[in-house]
Amino acid sequence: MPEFIIVEPEYEKHIALIRLNRPKELNALNLQLMGEIRDALLELDENPDVRVIIITGNERAFAAGADIKQMAGKGAIDMLKIDQFRTWDSIRKTRKPIIAAVSGFALGGGCELTMLCDMIIASETAQFGQPEIKIGVMPGAGGTQRLTRAVGKVNAMEMALTGKFISAQRAYEMGLVNRVVPVELYLSETVRLAKEIAAQSPIAVQLVKESVNMAFETSLQEGLALERKNFYMLFATEDQTEGMNAFVEKRRPDFKGE
Ligand code: HXC
Repeated sequence: MPEFIIVEPEYEKHIALIRLNRPKELNALNLQLMGEIRDALLELDENPDVRVIIITGNERAFAAGADIKQMAGKGAIDMLKIDQFRTWDSIRKTRKPIIAAVSGFALGGGCELTMLCDMIIASETAQFGQPEIKIGVMPGAGGTQRLTRAVGKVNAMEMALTGKFISAQRAYEMGLVNRVVPVELYLSETVRLAKEIAAQSPIAVQLVKESVNMAFETSLQEGLALERKNFYMLFATEDQTEGMNAFVEKRRPDFKGE
């Protein structure tokens, strides 16, 4: 049983929820907690009943960053040997869509974890930041790379060089989050979005995720080639037949993931 997260594989039909649960430490991401997220995602990715995964924290904090107390006494070689980013790389390979439901602090590794997710729904109380500079280091889990792709160079520079937090509204204006909702709605709005995606063909959903992510990894030509192959591949699925027949027959499709 995990100690620092709560996993609900059937939070709603086809929707799993992972709740970070170290509230006293504002969900600071220690190594065990990250390992628990990795293990849960591996399991949920294999679970055929799960189509969409939500990661959330609590109202005060999504996560206030990597656990500074755990890192404080470490040297470079300790950090190299711990190799915590293997865990992050594994999380990144999750094939099913992950939505972050964020309220309160999403800082440092917490902000980076939201960016490892595929979409972000923010409460109006959410605050995002890469404050590592204030403790003498810098982002290490994508905060200079994914943030720059999401919000552009000048905004990423300002956030990572000053460490200041930005509001949910500002994060929305910069393109970091999908939308901002009142605090009492951030989880239900995330579930609403998850349900919309869970109603689609899971194989098509997986290939869309792979194809969109490829836009950040490769040239346009290679990305388009992958997109085309994935498009053709979907014509091998029963869901394609069902989806197109349902359109012709003017009914809602019932996608099975076959
Ligand atoms: C360990 C943390 C923590 C963290 C908060 N806590 N953030 N412990 N690591 N990142 C602990 C505090 O020590 C405190 O415990 C308790 O949580 C409540 O925090 P407070 O500071 O008392 O709350 P508040 O005054 O409301 O301030 C909230 C805060 C502040 C602004 C979020 O806690 C803060 O600045 N935290 C650090 C944010 C940060 O620098 N994150 C980046 C980390 S580096 P006690 O026991 O004292 O009551 C990073 C690198 C990522 O993420 C690299 C890749 C993994």
